[in-house]
Amino acid sequence: MRHFTILLAMMAVLFSCKKKTEKTPTVEEQAKPDFIVAFGSCNMPQEPNPFWDDILAENPNVWVWGGDIVYADTDDMDRLRAIYAMQDSVPAYAKLKAEVPIIGTWDDHDFGLNDGGANFSVKKESQQVFLDFMEVPADSERRMREGVYASHEYETPKGKVKIIVLDTRYFRSDLIKDEDPNRRYKPDTSEEATVLGDAQWAWLQEELSGSTADFNLIMSSIQVLSGEHGFETWGNFPKETEKLETIIVQSNAKGVILLSGDRHISEFSKTDVAGLPYPLIDFTSSGLTHSYASFSGEPNKYRVGEVVSDKSYGVITFDFDKKEVDLKIMGDNGTVLQELKQSY
Ligand SMILES: [Fe+2]
Repeated sequence: MRHFTILLAMMAVLFSCKKKTEKTPTVEEQAKPDFIVAFGSCNMPQEPNPFWDDILAENPNVWVWGGDIVYADTDDMDRLRAIYAMQDSVPAYAKLKAEVPIIGTWDDHDFGLNDGGANFSVKKESQQVFLDFMEVPADSERRMREGVYASHEYETPKGKVKIIVLDTRYFRSDLIKDEDPNRRYKPDTSEEATVLGDAQWAWLQEELSGSTADFNLIMSSIQVLSGEHGFETWGNFPKETEKLETIIVQSNAKGVILLSGDRHISEFSKTDVAGLPYPLIDFTSSGLTHSYASFSGEPNKYRVGEVVSDKSYGVITFDFDKKEVDLKIMGDNGTVLQELKQSY
């Protein structure tokens, strides 16, 4: 019996030695997602943003601005430049910028006009100031074309993510005021009404149908799916929403996920689109420095989970092997306020 015990002990030592020579992934390595996107919108450099350190701690591969990077609301380009400069001088943001690639789009307040669109008088000038802030090179094709839309590809050993940022301001036709005092705008069903404009539509169609990415994120500053609230939304352009869904289906692009902001609330919207082999999600993340704290509810037939009316940012992590994404609405110090997982 004693010999048997000694033999067992020797075997245990042998096995444990053998184990040590194999490279087993640490808990940290096992837990690390294949790709991490962090994003947010509605940010005032004059107000404290409690999230920059948390966002950096997430170790994201990219930060995506969803618009309203600053609240300039001006046609004075010197003033616009000065307000963007304030954002660049926020120490915690500067630290993030030094370590993480930053991309994104604008919305109305950094464009320069509240709820503004194609008729904004200095949109050309504002575009160049925006591209300066985003440090887009002077010889980039983005300097030559109208609008701030762009696409970015990220290749990893396990798979590829494409992030398409739309411009929902530069070409957007006028909104129609609603007579209902509880609603700001009502849907425009006319043929000419547009969110993206012809050139951007053609570009988007190519970006999606030519995409070889495993996941394709589309950042639209304004909400796409939640269309009933009467504020700005693709819902005010039902034909454009239909066109977007058709293009997504016909492109056969894999894993399309919509991102949005603007509302000073955060929420998940999700729907089935005919012909799309997975549900279409619109992840709204808005209110980095200020939120719709008095929010008391609004209809959204596509909502999943609860509306977050506290300040927040969004994080999306990707698992290429399992074709899974984990979407999280984040509060301060790593608090998860809402979460949605989706397989593709
Ligand atoms: Fe905003």
